[in-house]
Amino acid sequence: MIDNEQMISKIYKIIEDSKEKVNKDYYRLNYHIMPPVGFLNDPNGFIQINGEYHLFYQFNPFYPEDKKVCWAHLKSTDLITWEWLPIALLPIEWYESHGCYSGSAVNNNGIFTLIYTGNVKNSMGVRETYQCLAESKDGINFKKYIDNPVIYNQPEGYTRHFRDPKVWKHNNLWYTVIGAQTEKKQGTTLLYSSIDLVKWTKIGELDSLMKDFGYMWECPNLFTIDHKDVLLFCPQGVKLKGDLYNNIYQCGYFIGKIDYETGKFTHEEFLEIDRGFEFYAPQVTVDDSGRTLMVGWIGLPDEENSETKENNWMHCLSIIRELYIKDNKLCQRPIKEMELLRKKLIQYNDLKINSDNFELPNNGDSYEMICDFVFEDDVVFGLKLRSKDGTDGINLYYDSKNEKIAFDRENIVSAKRETRKCYIRNNRKLKLHIFMDKSSIEVFVNDGQETFTARIYPDKKSNGIFIFCKNGNVAVNIKFWNII
Ligand code: FRU
Repeated sequence: MIDNEQMISKIYKIIEDSKEKVNKDYYRLNYHIMPPVGFLNDPNGFIQINGEYHLFYQFNPFYPEDKKVCWAHLKSTDLITWEWLPIALLPIEWYESHGCYSGSAVNNNGIFTLIYTGNVKNSMGVRETYQCLAESKDGINFKKYIDNPVIYNQPEGYTRHFRDPKVWKHNNLWYTVIGAQTEKKQGTTLLYSSIDLVKWTKIGELDSLMKDFGYMWECPNLFTIDHKDVLLFCPQGVKLKGDLYNNIYQCGYFIGKIDYETGKFTHEEFLEIDRGFEFYAPQVTVDDSGRTLMVGWIGLPDEENSETKENNWMHCLSIIRELYIKDNKLCQRPIKEMELLRKKLIQYNDLKINSDNFELPNNGDSYEMICDFVFEDDVVFGLKLRSKDGTDGINLYYDSKNEKIAFDRENIVSAKRETRKCYIRNNRKLKLHIFMDKSSIEVFVNDGQETFTARIYPDKKSNGIFIFCKNGNVAVNIKFWNII
C-alpha cells in the first residue's frame, strides 16, 4: 500500500509535468478557484477560523487514469486571493481507500476539525461508507483521528449511499446532516447529534413532505438564516418538469423549521438554487461577521465533457456568494470583496435600444458588468455575450410578456443551442449583474432573486457585448469593469 509521502510526491510530479500544458490553456480562469491539474468537484470544509477563511475541494489529481479523491486546501483573508496549502486529506487508510469524499469543517474548541466520508469499494466491488474526522492544530497539517471511523456504514433501512456530513453547533451540541438513500431507493437526509464529534446519535430522517423526490440526496447543508431553517441539498433522479429540473442532477432547497428533538422538518416547496446549466454541491458557512456565505461547483457529476480535459484539468468553483432571504426565497449576492477585482469603471447612461444588435464599444473575456434595464411595452430584450458579430455567443434575454428570463448557449457535445428559463415578474425593470471569466459565467438577476451559472467555451476572439430589443424600446444603464 502506498503511504502519504509516496502519494504526495506522485501528485507533485503530476502537477509539475502538466504545468506547461495546463497553463497554456486559454480556458484557465482568472479569478475562480480551479485545480492545478486533474479533476475538481465539490467545495468542502468552508470555514472562517482564527480570522482566516479556509476552503477545501474534492481533488482527483490522477484524473482520468485513476480515481483517488483528496481534499485540496486553500486559505484566504479576503475570499479573493487564495493561497494553496499542502493537500489536507489523502486517501491512504483502509476506511477511505477509494476517496476522501465530501464533508465539512468546524472549530472544536480551537481544534480545526474536518468531518468527511471515507469511501471504499471492497474486494467484492461493494461500497462501504465511513464518516471520519481529521484534526489540525496549525491549520495546515491534518491528522486523521486515531479511532476513525466515527460512523461505521449506514444505519438500518438505508443503503450505502450515505455520505457528505455537514456539521454545525446548536445549543452546545454538534449536529450533522448526511445525504442518504432509503432501502426503497428514495433520497433523504439523516440528522445526528453528538457532544464530542466522536459518538454520534441518530435522531432520524428529516421528515420531508416529499417522500418521492429522487433516489439520492447528496451534499446536504442545514443552516438558519433570518430565523428560518434551510435545507440546501442535491437530489438526484428528479424528473424534468417544464422549465424545472432540466439538468442531469438538481440543486435546491426547502425553507422551513426544524425540530431538533425529533428531526421533523416542516417546510415549503423545493426551489432550485440556480437556474443555469451547472451549479452543484454548494457548501455554506457563516463567517465571523455573521454573513451566510456559499460557494458551489460549476460542474455536475457524470458530465465530463469539457474543452479543458485534453489539457489535463477540469472544472472550477463559483465565486463566493452571500445568501439572504427575501419574499421567503433564498437570494444570492456576490460578496462585497468582489469589488477588489475591479479595474477602471466604464459607464453608459440611459442607452436607448430599439434595434437588433447594438454593440458596446468595449469588450472582453474577464469582466463584471451591471445592466439596469427599464422598459414599458411587451418586449423581448437582452444581451449577447462572448459574441463575434452578434449572431453567436451567450444569449441572455427577458420576455416581458411571458415574464420569463432565458439563458442560452451552445451545447458542448452537439453544438446545438440549449436553453434554461425561469419566471421573473415583470416590474418594468430588470437588473442583470454578470461575472464573466474566460470559460465561466455567473448571472445575478434582480439582486440574486435568481442566478444562472454555467461553463462556456467560446472562441478566444469572441469578446463582443451586444444589446438587443425586439418589438419595442428599452433604456439601460451599464457599469462595466474589466477584471485582471
Ligand atoms: C457530489 C459527490 C458527493 C461525494 C463526492 C465525491 O458531487 O458525488 O456525494 O462525496 O462527490 O467526489
